[in-house]
Amino acid sequence: MAPTNQSDQLEPAPADETREIPIRREELAVHVNPRSQVAEQFRSLRNAVHAMNPDGASHTLVLTSALSGEGKSVACLNLALALCELPGIQVLVVDADLHEPSMERYLELPVRQGLTEVLTGSLAIGAAVRKTSVKGLSVMGAGARPKNSSELIGSERMKTVLNALRQRYSYVLIDTPQALTISDASQLGAIADGVLMVVRLGYTPRHYVEQTVNSIEALGGNILGTCLTDAAVIDTAEGYGQRTK
Ligand SMILES: Nc1ncnc2c1ncn2[C@@H]1O[C@H](COP(=O)(O)OP(=O)(O)O)[C@@H](O)[C@H]1O
Ligand SMILES: [Mg+2]
Repeated sequence: MAPTNQSDQLEPAPADETREIPIRREELAVHVNPRSQVAEQFRSLRNAVHAMNPDGASHTLVLTSALSGEGKSVACLNLALALCELPGIQVLVVDADLHEPSMERYLELPVRQGLTEVLTGSLAIGAAVRKTSVKGLSVMGAGARPKNSSELIGSERMKTVLNALRQRYSYVLIDTPQALTISDASQLGAIADGVLMVVRLGYTPRHYVEQTVNSIEALGGNILGTCLTDAAVIDTAEGYGQRTK
């Protein structure tokens, strides 16, 4: 499938370009505010995820939510950061939200080629993975915005890519678009080991969550649990972001 014009302008990442770029967005509490309550909650989620994996086998996990703006991308990165605190763990975060990519924005990295180009066959997997300044944490950005993301995400190539990544990392965390209206997360859930549902308290109607869970399970996805994000915390963070200092 043909990438958009925007994609033609994206370049592959130079080797090690991102290793020295600090992680400093305040939402990424596990790293920037490690003693906060939010950081502790992500460590609890990490412990629960890790405890489901007593044999230490590699795992691919999809993070999704019914709606956009529920905090799944931030949760994905905080969970990844918490997993990296465990000794010897290598984590890859994959931005499979080809509709509204955000991993590079949260990590303050230059936008480069990524998953789209890997799936269209123009970029090798290794060239799409970038190490971050946090030990054990690597990221694959979304790359260009394709015209038909569902076709790419549902392709045989996606399965091959995920299997290859599973060989190289202890955990592959996959960030996805909202699952109520876009099928990409359900398709990924079907080929990953598990799905974590992110639910923003007081924001998402219960029946939307149920409908989303049903559509993920209908394709064979294995829902491991729910990560609740707190509307109050999110609103506070947005307030801070808008403040002039
Ligand atoms: N734990 C958190 N603490 C503070 N702000 C958060 C937290 N999680 C999400 N947010 C804020 O909520 C908004 C949506 O988060 P995001 O993870 O991008 O949502 P999604 O990926 O579900 O669309 C962003 O403005 C983000 O800064
Ligand atoms: Mg997101």
